[in-house]
Order: sequence, then structure tokens, then C-alpha cells
Amino acid sequence: MGKIHYFFLLKFSMVFLAVGAASNSNITTDQSALLALRDRMIASSEPQEILAKNWSVTSSVCDWMGVTCGPRHRRVTALNISNMKLTGDLPPQLGNLSFLVSLDLSSNNFHGELPRELAHLRRLRYLYLGINNLGGELPSWFGYLHKLQQLTLSNNSFSGSLPPSISNMSKLESLWLTDNSIEGTIPIEFQNLHSLKILIIDRNQLSGPLPLHTFNISSLQIISLFQNSLSGILPDTICHALHKLTYLGLGGNNLIGQMPSTLSECSMLQTLALPLNYLRGPIPKAIGNLTVLETLALESNNLRGKMY
Ligand SMILES: *[C@@H]1O[C@H](CO)[C@@H](O)[C@H](O)[C@H]1NC(C)=O
Ligand SMILES: *[C@@H]1O[C@H](CO)[C@@H](O)[C@H](O)[C@H]1NC(C)=O
Ligand SMILES: *[C@@H]1O[C@H](CO)[C@@H](O)[C@H](O)[C@H]1NC(C)=O
Ligand SMILES: *[C@@H]1O[C@H](CO)[C@@H](O)[C@H](O)[C@H]1NC(C)=O
Ligand SMILES: *[C@@H]1O[C@H](CO)[C@@H](O)[C@H](O)[C@H]1NC(C)=O
Ligand SMILES: *[C@@H]1O[C@H](CO)[C@@H](O)[C@H](O)[C@H]1NC(C)=O
Ligand SMILES: *[C@@H]1O[C@H](CO)[C@@H](O)[C@H](O)[C@H]1NC(C)=O
Ligand SMILES: *[C@@H]1O[C@H](CO)[C@@H](O)[C@H](O)[C@H]1NC(C)=O
Repeated sequence: MGKIHYFFLLKFSMVFLAVGAASNSNITTDQSALLALRDRMIASSEPQEILAKNWSVTSSVCDWMGVTCGPRHRRVTALNISNMKLTGDLPPQLGNLSFLVSLDLSSNNFHGELPRELAHLRRLRYLYLGINNLGGELPSWFGYLHKLQQLTLSNNSFSGSLPPSISNMSKLESLWLTDNSIEGTIPIEFQNLHSLKILIIDRNQLSGPLPLHTFNISSLQIISLFQNSLSGILPDTICHALHKLTYLGLGGNNLIGQMPSTLSECSMLQTLALPLNYLRGPIPKAIGNLTVLETLALESNNLRGKMY
């Protein structure tokens, strides 16, 4: 009886919690959040006037273009208005879309800083903001988005350093930050990102030695840090943990020293790209042991020796 009773209580309290959350907000909350976004876009001129016409209060929010509602609660769970030539800054009301799981605003011309109210989107799993003109320092409140799995901020104007709190996103699988102005090093806390598969931070201003603690994340499949200012050597331990790595791109940095033969421990590598550095010495024979390697890019270094 104890067990059943406990189970009942648990279910009851879950229902209670759900009702509790729902009584604070409803679909009208979602509507006003989207209208706030629409009005910002209209204010900064929406060239195609698609949303100005389609996002009309005469129809349900769930029928609006780019909006998806959940089947049960009929609350907005996804917003996808990518690639619509939209402009404007993002209103704080977006943080009221409390059922949102997926937000895709990529390939527009949104600008300004991310409103910190976005930290309230605790159900968010997918956040795609790439190819816009968003900026400011990368916010530390990203750490509140505990469920986030994919974060894309590529091709924007974000600056500052990577906030250690990103490591709070314990489910994070891919992080795309290419083409911003991010500086400093990758914080040590990133070693806690045990689900991370894809780390792409090309063309930024990362500096300091290779962030080896990040190379300790054994789930990683792709590491791409092209065209930063990383310096120092490729240490012997570089591939110790990276048994799933298929892509390693460190070209266009300031790496020195020799290529370690232990690179062959990254046995799943399909691409090894280290061009445009200051590497010298022989190309280790062990590279020949990378049996699935398809692309080897080493040009513009001081390497010598024959290829096996
Ligand atoms: C949403 O809640 C507000 C205030 O709590 C209420 O006035 C409104 O009628 C509700 N809307 C719907 C669609 O239930
Ligand atoms: C808005 O767009 C959606 C999807 O394209 C369409 O189904 C709906 O009828 C449109 N609503 C209005 C009011 O134009
Ligand atoms: C958003 O829509 C575009 C165009 O229809 C599509 O390519 C993209 O995959 C969608 N994004 C998400 C997160 O589903
Ligand atoms: C939505 O967000 C704004 C700004 O963050 C806030 O002032 C407002 O009270 C929130 N709640 C609702 C129900 O719109
Ligand atoms: C990170 O997570 C911890 C524990 O869940 C929480 O106490 C802390 O406030 C979070 N930090 C940020 C910046 O989100
Ligand atoms: C991203 O930005 C880079 C340089 O800032 C530019 O060369 C590239 O074309 C951009 N990519 C897209 C898809 O806009
Ligand atoms: C990598 O992980 C190993 C074993 O977990 C640990 O001993 C080592 O200190 C870590 N290296 C870095 C640079 O964090
Ligand atoms: C290549 O792999 C073979 C078999 O695993 C091993 O015996 C050999 O030492 C390796 N060669 C180098 C240069 O690491």
C-alpha cells in the first residue's frame, strides 16, 4: 500500500505543479509575447510584411506562420522564423514563452543583445540564432538553460569570453560559435560537458595553449578551432580520450613543435587539418595507422618527411 500511496502522491504533486504553472500563464501570454516580437519587427520595417499580415489576433496563435503548439496544452512549443529577412531587436517578452522547446531565428538580421529574460525558457532544447547581427558579451545566464542540447550563435557579433556557466548545460551536444569575436580561452568547467559531440569555434579570437581539459571530453566527434590565436604545442596526450573524434581542425593558429605520433590514438579521424601553423619536424609514421582518414591538410608549416 505504501508504494501505491507514494506513487499517487507523486502523480498528484506533478499534476498540481503543472496546474500551478499554467495558472500563471496561458496561451494569451504566448500571444502577447509573439505580438511584442512582431511589433519590434514592424517598427524596424519588415520588408515582406508576411508576419505583419499573418500574425493577426483574428486567428489563433497556433495557426500563425512559424508557430507550433503542443498537442496537449496548446501552448507555443516551437518558433521558427528563420530566413525571412526580419530585423529588429528581441523583446524581453520572448522569455514568457515558457513552453518553448525550439527557437530558430537564424538567417535574419536581428540585432542588439539577447534579453536576459530568455533565461526563463527552462524547457528550451534547441536555440538557433546563427547568421544575424546579434552582439554583446556571451551571457552567463546561459547556465540556466539546463535542458539545452544545441546552441548555434555563428555569424553574429558576440564578444567577450566563454562564460564558465555554459558548463551547466549538461545535455549540450553541439556548440557552434564560428564567426564572432570571442576571446580568451575555453574555461576549465567545459570538461563537465559530458554529452558534447560538436564544438565549432572557427574564426574567433581564442588564445592561449590548446584547452586540453576540453580535449578530455570523450563524447566529442568534431573539434574545429580554425583561425584563432591558439599557441603552444600539440601535447602527446592530445588524443588520449578522443576515441570518437572524426574531425580535428586546428588550422590557422600559432601552434609550434612537432606532430606527436600519438595523434594516431584518435583512431576514428576522417579529417586532420593543421595547416597554417608553425609545426616542424617529421610527419610521424603513425599517421599511416589512421585507417579511416580521408583528408590530411598540413600545408604551410615546416614539416618534412615522406607520406606513408
Ligand atoms: C489567460 O489568463 C488571463 C488572466 O489570467 C485571462 O484574462 C484570460 O482570459 C486567459 N485567456 C485564456 C485564453 O484562457
Ligand atoms: C498564416 O500562415 C499559415 C501558414 O502558412 C496559414 O496556414 C494561415 O492561414 C495564415 N493565416 C493568415 C491569417 O493569413
Ligand atoms: C526552420 O525552418 C527552415 C525552413 O523551413 C528549416 O530548414 C529548418 O530546419 C527549421 N528549423 C528547425 C529548428 O526545425
Ligand atoms: C511578460 O514579460 C514582460 C517583460 O519581460 C513582463 O512585463 C510581463 O509581465 C510578462 N507576463 C505576461 C503575462 O505577459
Ligand atoms: C548552474 O547550476 C547550478 C546548479 O543547478 C545553479 O545553482 C547555478 O545558479 C547555475 N548557474 C548559472 C549561472 O546558471
Ligand atoms: C559568415 O561570416 C563570414 C565572415 O564574417 C562570411 O565570410 C560568411 O559568408 C558568412 N556566412 C554566411 C552563411 O553568411
Ligand atoms: C584528463 O582526464 C584525466 C583522467 O580523467 C585526468 O587525469 C587529467 O588530469 C585530465 N586532463 C586535463 C588537462 O584536464
Ligand atoms: C600501427 O598500428 C600497429 C598495429 O596496431 C602497431 O603495431 C604499430 O606500432 C603502429 N605504428 C605506429 C607507427 O604507431
